[in-house]
Amino acid sequence: MDRILFKHVDVPDINRLPVYVENGGYSGLRKALTEMQPEEVTQVVMDSGLAGRGGAAFPTGRKWSFIPKGVLPTYLAVNADESEPGAFKDRELMERNPHQLLEGVAISAYAVRAEKAFIYIRGEFLYIEEILNAAVAEAYAGGYLGTNLFGTATSIDIVIHRGAGAYICGEESAMLDSLEGYRGFPRLKPPFPAVKGAYGQPTVINNVETLANVSHIVNNGAEWFRSFGTEKSPGTKICSVSGPVNRPGNYEVNMGTPFRTLLEDMAGGLVEGKKLKAYIPGGASAPMLPGTEANMEIPLSYEGYAAAGSAFGSASFIIIPDDACIIRAQLRISEFFAHESCGKCIPCREGTPWLAKTVRRIENGEGRQEDLPLLLDICDNILGRAFCPLGDFATSNIVASIKYFYDEYEQHILQRGCPYHSAASAVA
Ligand SMILES: Cc1cc2nc3c(=O)[nH]c(=O)nc-3n(C[C@H](O)[C@H](O)[C@H](O)COP(=O)(O)O)c2cc1C
Repeated sequence: MDRILFKHVDVPDINRLPVYVENGGYSGLRKALTEMQPEEVTQVVMDSGLAGRGGAAFPTGRKWSFIPKGVLPTYLAVNADESEPGAFKDRELMERNPHQLLEGVAISAYAVRAEKAFIYIRGEFLYIEEILNAAVAEAYAGGYLGTNLFGTATSIDIVIHRGAGAYICGEESAMLDSLEGYRGFPRLKPPFPAVKGAYGQPTVINNVETLANVSHIVNNGAEWFRSFGTEKSPGTKICSVSGPVNRPGNYEVNMGTPFRTLLEDMAGGLVEGKKLKAYIPGGASAPMLPGTEANMEIPLSYEGYAAAGSAFGSASFIIIPDDACIIRAQLRISEFFAHESCGKCIPCREGTPWLAKTVRRIENGEGRQEDLPLLLDICDNILGRAFCPLGDFATSNIVASIKYFYDEYEQHILQRGCPYHSAASAVA
């Protein structure tokens, strides 16, 4: 398997500037600033086909091209909030190789003529904030951040800003509110952040993994990047694998690799005695799929999972074994979204706790036959009606679990209890 982002991950002390530079680090930044115009950087990223790794897979170069010319200052805001259940790839990218991110951030800031970039990091990632702060200090001291970089007129500052642990602040406009010191609420769009973002100025928002790719693209070119992955999903992707597998963790794969390779060869398969019942490919917001032979062969790509009726999203694979209760797994997911709903809009604020309450009732043996159409009806009233995608996210696994595991819901209702858990383990 090819490695781009994890290529140097095992090099001792790669988090330290001299080691990073010895391994070719900051040559992409030097090349961009001394040999390329900002538009050329945007063009090569556009030609590479790099798409956003934060979940929505929006083409990165195209997003940068939306920044209006001549409206200054512009900003770059890096989404390091990573709060979705199942996702832990950005954490490892920042923890193991922080300069790779900083270099990508500096090049991307140059491309959109931003002199200031913010890295908005998840509240719980205190120790990673410390790693990033140390790397930023080294980069300033080494002349890779600050004013007149490489003797040019370009100046770039990076500010690390730690959130307070709210999933909604991963939504890009809520992230900007939080960055500005307000409570994180999603903003009405349009205007989109590229036109009116941080402090009312044009702002590009990108995910950590997205930006970590940028120095490699600038160094090696668009065709090189396209030589990895599929035509529609060029490059590699870091996949997080969690659940009862032999080697849970993050794995970099060429896009298009079958899921079977990730699960069996890389993550070592399920632990002894367990079989795959279902899996969620893109974090808690992506619909689960049953663990059929056909679903083992799905290519790890945006188009692969879209065709299978799910979403590749942030490539956060949650493995559900045959001895796990789907309803209890769903309850965990529903409780998460109910807890994290920001309360700004009614469908999500009222609907998500109602979903959790109904699933809890079924899991605890107090479900009624009408609860299944009721769940679908609540989903119908959230989907497309919430202010931001968090509401939609809360519905996707309810719909998928009822579609694929209807019998298991019925069994809970008819037997008045969970076949996997005793009444004593009821969920309050
Ligand atoms: C509720 C919610 C949470 C999100 N959380 C994250 C997150 O933690 N990290 C992230 O990069 N994108 C997250 N996103 C997506 C961002 O809004 C945005 O699309 C992304 O940061 C853009 O970067 P990209 O184009 O590089 O993927 C979230 C979206 C929603 C609706």
